[in-house]
Order: sequence, then C-alpha cells, then structure tokens
Amino acid sequence: MRTVEIAPSFEDWQAAARTLLHDGVPPAEVRWRETAHGEQRSLLTEPAPPPPSGGARVPRKFLDLAREAAVAADPTRWQVLYEVLWRLVHENRDLLDAEGDPTMRRLKALSKREGEGAAEFVPPGASLAELRAAAAKCTGCDLYRHATQTVFGLGPADARIVFVGEQPGDQEDRKGAPFVGPAGEVFDRVLAEVGLARTRLYVTNAVKHFKFVEKGKRRIHQTPRMSELTACRPWLEAELALIKPGVLVCLGATAAHAVFGADFRLMKDRGRFAPTRWADKTIATLHPSAVLRGEDETQQARLYGILLEDLRLVAGA
Ligand code: URA
Ligand code: SF4
Repeated sequence: MRTVEIAPSFEDWQAAARTLLHDGVPPAEVRWRETAHGEQRSLLTEPAPPPPSGGARVPRKFLDLAREAAVAADPTRWQVLYEVLWRLVHENRDLLDAEGDPTMRRLKALSKREGEGAAEFVPPGASLAELRAAAAKCTGCDLYRHATQTVFGLGPADARIVFVGEQPGDQEDRKGAPFVGPAGEVFDRVLAEVGLARTRLYVTNAVKHFKFVEKGKRRIHQTPRMSELTACRPWLEAELALIKPGVLVCLGATAAHAVFGADFRLMKDRGRFAPTRWADKTIATLHPSAVLRGEDETQQARLYGILLEDLRLVAGA
C-alpha cells in the first residue's frame, strides 16, 4: 500500500497520479491523504518526486470532469479520480461513455457540484459582465434544474440605487431579465411616478432562478426556502460588492430578510433607512406583486400608496 499525500487541489492530485501511473501502482494499492491547510507535505513524507513528463494521454473530457470533481467536498474523490484514470489507461479508453459503470457514476456526481451553494461558481475579481456569464452556469442549488435560465441583475455597474426583489417570475424566466412581468409593470409605474429612470438603476433578485410548481399550463411561483436564499446569496453579495450602491432597496419580505436578517418585519420596519454593510441607506418596502394580490381595488390602491410613499423617500435620498 502506498500512502500519497496531496494538497486538496487538482494540480497536486494530477502530479501524484502521473507518478503512480508511471510506477504502475494500481488504485487498490493507493491510500490518498489530504494535507491540512498550510501543512508541509515534506515534513510528513519524502518529498514527492517531480512528475514524469509526458506519460499517458487521457481524454480532455476526463480532465474537465476531474477539475470539477477536485473541488467537491467528498474526501474519497481522489481515489475515484485515480480509479477512473487507471482504467482509462489500462482497461477501457471509452470508459467515460460507460453510462452504467458505478465508478463513472460517482465521478459524474462528484463533478456536478450541485446543491453546495453559488460560492464556488463566483469568479474572484470578476466584472459585472463576467459575474453574469458565470451565473448562467450556476448549479449551486436545485432550482436551476427546472427553470429556463439564470436571471441575473440588470443595470449599470455604477448605479447609485440598487433594487432587490425575491426571484424571477414566469415572464422573467422566459425573457432572462428581472421585473419584466406583471410585477414589473407595477414597478415601472411607481418608478415613473416618483421620477426614477429604470435605466439608471440596478435591479436584481435575492434568488436568481424561478421556483415554481406546475398547475396545468400555468407555472405558479413558490417562495424560495431559506436554504435556497443562502445558496444564491454569493451572487447578490458579489453584485453589491462591485456596485457599492448609495441606496439599497429591498422589495418585499424575502429580499428584506436576505438583507436585514430573518427578524425583519416588513410591515413594521418598512419605509425607514438604516445603514447596512452594503449601503449607508438601506430600506425595505412592499413587493410590487403584493399590490397585485390586494383583494379589491381599494386594497390595491392602499398597498400601491405605501409602495409609492416609500419610493418617494428613495427618489429623494
Ligand atoms: N418578482 C421578483 O421578485 N422579481 C422579479 O424579477 C419578478 C417578479
Ligand atoms: Fe445558483 Fe442561485 Fe440558481 Fe440556485 S438559484 S442554481 S444558487 S443561481
């Protein structure tokens, strides 16, 4: 049995795997051990020999899968990777296409990176356009599976005012832009009334994929769970860190909870500026779709009045 110590990275695994392959060590005879963060490998074992150059050629697709699996949390991933590599070289060049193979299934599951949140998809130091492109590929929670596309925030990177809604709705999911459905109509109306130009605002959502249940032909919005809000949060954090708004507006309870915390009570705490770590002036108000859900016209007018009143504060800030 050979114990191989690597820093938990693709590059370290690859270097070690090359040496093992070169020495003809089969997977069953390797025990993989991850060095703790900052631990000196050379203090524990002999220094790793430089990997032999050249060596076996493996399909590029394997390297892509391996790179993705390398960032999974499962400590057995190094073993799985080496087993697949070994078999690609010694048994079956077409192993990657063997659907029913249990080890291949494990590799594919490891490389999917589902459900672990958006953090690992957020490129460090990215521009807004780069964030948007990266978010299009996010599988940080299950919501991407049924939705049409990621609906990222929209607006100039130097916007002074940022609006955060809950999540895209049916229309937004189809069109790929926030607040372009019925709630967007109410939003546009109230913006016009208080004199805010939408083109100068940055508008986004706390969750970037549409969550719904199908009822016949209709897709009915479902409120995202706390775990989905948490999973998606890195995108909102990244947007806000880049834009650094002077004024941050939460539309509805979900956005308010994401920004002010779970204790925030919308109807009690709305309509007042408070500083947060994202903006000196942060405020929450009704969600435009709450206006649409009002029971009758009187109620709808009353709710619209509240939204209008709060957005007048925003326009004057
Ligand atoms: N509701 C939201 O919260 N966001 C949208 O983008 C659309 C509807
Ligand atoms: Fe990623 Fe957010 Fe979509 Fe979940 S909802 S897949 S975290 S972008």
